[in-house]
Amino acid sequence: MTSRLAVAILIVLLAFFAVGCGQRVVDKEQYSPEEKIVIRFSHVVPQNTPKGLAAKRFAQLVEQRTGGRVEVQVFPNSTLYKDGEELEALRSGAVQLIAPTTSKLGEMFPRWQLFDLPYAFRNRHQVHRAVEGEIWQELCQDLEEKNIKALSFWDNGFKQLTNSKRKIIYPADTEGLIFRVMINSQVLKAQFRAVEAVPLPLVFSELYRALQTRQVDGQENTISNIYAKKFYKVQPYLTVSNHGYLGYVVLANADFWAGLPADIQQILEETMAEVTLWERSKAEELNNKDFKRLVDSGQMKIHVQTAEEREEWVERFKPVYRRYASYVGRDLLNALKQLDHHDRRPVL
Ligand code: LMR
Repeated sequence: MTSRLAVAILIVLLAFFAVGCGQRVVDKEQYSPEEKIVIRFSHVVPQNTPKGLAAKRFAQLVEQRTGGRVEVQVFPNSTLYKDGEELEALRSGAVQLIAPTTSKLGEMFPRWQLFDLPYAFRNRHQVHRAVEGEIWQELCQDLEEKNIKALSFWDNGFKQLTNSKRKIIYPADTEGLIFRVMINSQVLKAQFRAVEAVPLPLVFSELYRALQTRQVDGQENTISNIYAKKFYKVQPYLTVSNHGYLGYVVLANADFWAGLPADIQQILEETMAEVTLWERSKAEELNNKDFKRLVDSGQMKIHVQTAEEREEWVERFKPVYRRYASYVGRDLLNALKQLDHHDRRPVL
């Protein structure tokens, strides 16, 4: 009797630790073969952006390839959840897919702020190498501990500075200006403080209004977001600074993903890989096209940063690296340095 009890306790303990270590107990038979699977995909940008278009394309291809068995319902423009709500909605199972900017993971997963470090990447090839190797593996482990599975990394592009007050050429030009920053990133706040500006975290869906009503003077974003959200209508100054990278992690609820039938999971993963390649070239294409549209609109005074100016900004941002090295971790910072060391391609 005593040994039976001991065995029972042991089984319970093993099951408990298996779940705690991320090996989730999953009922693979939860879907009957004819049952429809609905995937809710929430994001915060308009449809005519790289992320918006890719989410839609993923939904269409999945529907075709599963013969309608899987329906991906895409909710763009924060219609379902805003920044800051998305992650919880994913964890609770209210949605199954999201694709937030890496910065927005920074509060729950501080190491993801690596992508926020100013001038950390010289070009998009370096970003891609980071998300294909050791750095990516490390960062994804943090997510797994919280029941989140990273499916892919989607591009947007490099961030540029816009504002309503004056032309920004040198770091001193930002002094006293209030800049909206994406939520959840200490590094982004530190970046603006390093140039004597005032950072104000705000969710994306409130940004246009904050710019229009002059609650903030400026913001940093990609060309495609500046164009698609019409920021150029209320921000007359643009500095093409390419000072930081804005990319997305496509995230799934890990339990949900593990519970999908194997054939469906395979179709989804193959389609995601294909759409990722498509999205990356679309992002480049859109950022180039939208830049031309901004120029043609005649609504912005555009300054393109020179290599010498860039050096000044890089110098001013050095304290941000020193202060936030502990967030990101020495090992990841070293891995980042290695990427740059081996990359002889020019900036952008
Ligand atoms: C922002 O908040 O500025 C961006 O993260 C929006 C987005 O998802 O591209």
